[in-house]
Formats: sequence, structure tokens, C-alpha cells
Amino acid sequence: MLFSGQFDVVGKKIVITGGSQGLGAELGKQLIIRGAAKVSLIARTESKLKETVLEISSFKQNQNQIVDFLAADISSYESCSKIVDSLDEIDVVFFCAGSSIPKLFLDLTPKELSNGVNINYNTALYFAHAALLKMKNKKVDHKRHFIFCSSVLAIYPFIGYGQYAPLKSALRSLADILRHETIPFNIKVHCVYPGNFASEGFIEEEKTKPEITKQIEGPSSPIPVEDCTKIVLWFLDRGYETIFTDVIGWILSCTTLGMSPRVLSIVQIFLSLVLNIIAPFYTLFTNYEIKNYFIKQIDNSKDK
Ligand SMILES: NC(=O)c1ccc[n+]([C@@H]2O[C@H](COP(=O)([O-])OP(=O)(O)OC[C@H]3O[C@@H](n4cnc5c(N)ncnc54)[C@H](OP(=O)(O)O)[C@@H]3O)[C@@H](O)[C@H]2O)c1
Repeated sequence: MLFSGQFDVVGKKIVITGGSQGLGAELGKQLIIRGAAKVSLIARTESKLKETVLEISSFKQNQNQIVDFLAADISSYESCSKIVDSLDEIDVVFFCAGSSIPKLFLDLTPKELSNGVNINYNTALYFAHAALLKMKNKKVDHKRHFIFCSSVLAIYPFIGYGQYAPLKSALRSLADILRHETIPFNIKVHCVYPGNFASEGFIEEEKTKPEITKQIEGPSSPIPVEDCTKIVLWFLDRGYETIFTDVIGWILSCTTLGMSPRVLSIVQIFLSLVLNIIAPFYTLFTNYEIKNYFIKQIDNSKDK
């Protein structure tokens, strides 16, 4: 840890699910600037992918570099399999596909509930399986990487994120398991737990986010997607398997240390002692806020 140069992408072939916009697109740009041989972007909307490929291509460092796209809904195993078959080699996969519809649980439609599972979990689960089947057959000397994109909500789930946070927790678990299972294939597994960053997806989320969710979240203004990308790459460069994009995410993670890889483990252990004393009092406070919110909602509906 801490020695840089542990995420060398020069000459590597990289796949980014959810690569048409937001974090995925910015990673694509930065990886081309760093000398990746090929960046393949995956998303459902072909027009958006074409625009992003054009934009990233303008950052090529040499004419041998390739930026391409594959338009598909990768929440089905069949799509993932087809895409993987069409790729010659895979050195790195960034699992960025994901989206949240913040609403109170009972306001979510059955379709929104199943989209939550499909987009936030199945895209990563199926693509990881299909990619690993291909990668296991190829012996390479260099380290390869799987980078899952979870959320700080996997660590502290709260009201309004019922369609999203449980699947991001599932990604943490999947990353922990694959970290064991990929040992024979020279693949290092990382899991990123971002806080809010300003992407197209984040702007959409704000439109349905309940007031009580905003209240508990507090004034956590999103960092620019460029900054989020730089932070992720900084930690990958230094060999970290668990990555937070802000201090609050790292602090919250001390309440659920478990067996996942840590960041500044000794400090986290001491901080966890303090935080685990405070946590039940904080829970009392949030429960009080939530109760008041529902009382106000009932009063408002009586007034109408
Ligand atoms: N933004 C934040 O504040 C934040 C915070 C924590 C974690 N995250 C996580 O970080 C990741 C990137 O976030 P972002 O805000 O950059 O995302 P975003 O702007 O919403 O972009 C999501 C990407 O995923 C693609 N996608 C969605 N469903 C797909 C499917 N079924 N098959 C293939 N592609 C699909 C989208 O394209 P199409 O719609 O065209 O398919 C798009 O390219 C996500 O996993 C998100 O949950 C974001």
C-alpha cells in the first residue's frame, strides 16, 4: 500500500459498464490519457455512447489506442455473455452501471423495485461471471483488476434508498467473495464506496428524493465527477482494495469494519470504538426526525 504504480493501464484493455456518462465516461477519458490500449464502453443508449466515444477519442495519446462501445442492457446474462465473447482480451473491468430512484418504499412501483435489482446488482453479477469465465482461460503475468462501484449507502443505508442501498451492500459482499475466488487468476478485486458526486444520474436522483432523505443526508454537496475519478484512480494506483471518495464515507465505514479490506486500519479500529458508542444515540435522533416527518405528513393530508 501507499507505493504508487500499482494500477498500470498502459497497453491494457479496459471495459467500463455504465460508460456512456458520469463516472464511467470520465474514467474512460482518464484511462485513455494514461495510455490504455483499448477502452470499451457499455450502456443501453447507443446515441449517448457514440457521443461519449467521440469525446474520449479526442484525448487519445496515439493513433493505436481504441475507444469503442457496445450498446446492450447487461442486466441479462445472455447480453453479458455476447459482449464478453465479442471482446478479444480483458485486463480491467470497471462495473459502473447503476442508478437510484430515491423514494419512500411504498411509493416505489413494482417496476422500479425490479429495476433496482437489475441495474444495481445483476449488471455487475452477470458481467463479472461472464468476464471471469473468459479471463480464467488466459494466463497473464500482469495483475488484472475488477473494480466494483458500490456506494457509501452500503455502509449507512437509510430512509428513501430502499430500491438501491440493499443492492450496493450486495456488491460489497460479491466483491469480498470474488476477492477470494479470483486469486488463482491474478485478478485483484476493488470496491469503491462513493459519496455524492455530480453526474447526470445524480441530477435525476435529486428529482424524486424525499425531504426526509435530504434532511438525514445533510448538506452533502456533490463533488465534481472529475474529482471523484481522480480520487478513485489515486487509491487504485496505491493498491487499495477498498476506496472511499470522501472522509465521511471512510468515517462511517468504521462502524462496519467486518472482514473487508480497510483503509488506515489501526485508526479505524480506534474510531470504531468511539462511533459504536455514539451510533445508538444518533439512531434515536434520526428516528425522532423520521417520526416528526410522518406526523407532519399526516397533518398536511388532514388539512387538504
Ligand atoms: N452519482 C453519485 O452521487 C453516486 C454516489 C454513489 C454511488 N454511485 C454509483 O456510481 C456508479 C456511477 O454513477 P453515475 O452517477 O456516474 O451514474 P449515471 O450518471 O447514472 O450513469 C449510469 C450509467 O449506467 C448505464 N446503465 C444503467 N443501466 C444499465 C443497464 N441495464 N445496462 C447497461 N448499462 C446501464 C447508463 O446508461 P444507459 O442508461 O444508457 O444504459 C449510464 O451509462 C453507479 O453505480 C452509481 O450507483 C453514484
